[in-house]
Amino acid sequence: MAILPVPPSCTTDAGVQKMRELAERYIQPSTLAAEVGTEHGGSALLFGAVCRERGARFLSIDGFSGNPFTCGPFSEEFFNQTRDRLRGLPISFLPMPSDVALEFIADRSLVLCYVDGGHKHPVVDEDLAGYAAKVMNGGVLCGHDYSRNHVPVMQAVDLAFGEKAQKANEVWYVEMTDELRASAARKAFLCQSA
Ligand SMILES: C[S@@+](CC[C@H](N)C(=O)[O-])C[C@H]1O[C@@H](n2cnc3c(N)ncnc32)[C@H](O)[C@@H]1O
Repeated sequence: MAILPVPPSCTTDAGVQKMRELAERYIQPSTLAAEVGTEHGGSALLFGAVCRERGARFLSIDGFSGNPFTCGPFSEEFFNQTRDRLRGLPISFLPMPSDVALEFIADRSLVLCYVDGGHKHPVVDEDLAGYAAKVMNGGVLCGHDYSRNHVPVMQAVDLAFGEKAQKANEVWYVEMTDELRASAARKAFLCQSA
């Protein structure tokens, strides 16, 4: 079946290159990877294709409202369009808010999680902490929009991981450890209480 074209993504070529590198480094046969924030499916096409090549699976977590940066009410039409675009890839969908989806994913079960959902406080801080808990030690938590256009994302990444987070253009990434997981959880708690 033909895959429908994906609308232009705001990810730069260098960002796409880094996403591909991370996918190829961390996604191995029989592993599970995920992303928070799928929207039209641009990043899921890339990660899903590597999962297919490697015999891995991918979870797509999104409210599927059609809203680019926040979680609005679910739109069946929008969801069906994205799902059709991604048909043929080993992707399972969790069409729900990112905090609800956490209940369906085992702790330390992911080799890679790409965070590109809510871009404001406290949602981005909670996503970093919540999904850090789902990535295994030695796996990678990464995400999009570490840029001055999305200051809360930069602040959340800096607060949670400090200099441990590496950046390649607007893509950030960090290899998970117990220490970093605990740091992200502490910082999200402080952000909620502020
Ligand atoms: C920037 S877009 C994702 C773009 C996609 N990663 C790409 O590069 O092609 C963010 C998506 O996350 C969704 N989203 C925002 N906040 C969310 C939340 N709290 N829970 C679930 N989805 C959310 C938005 O509705 C949107 O579909």
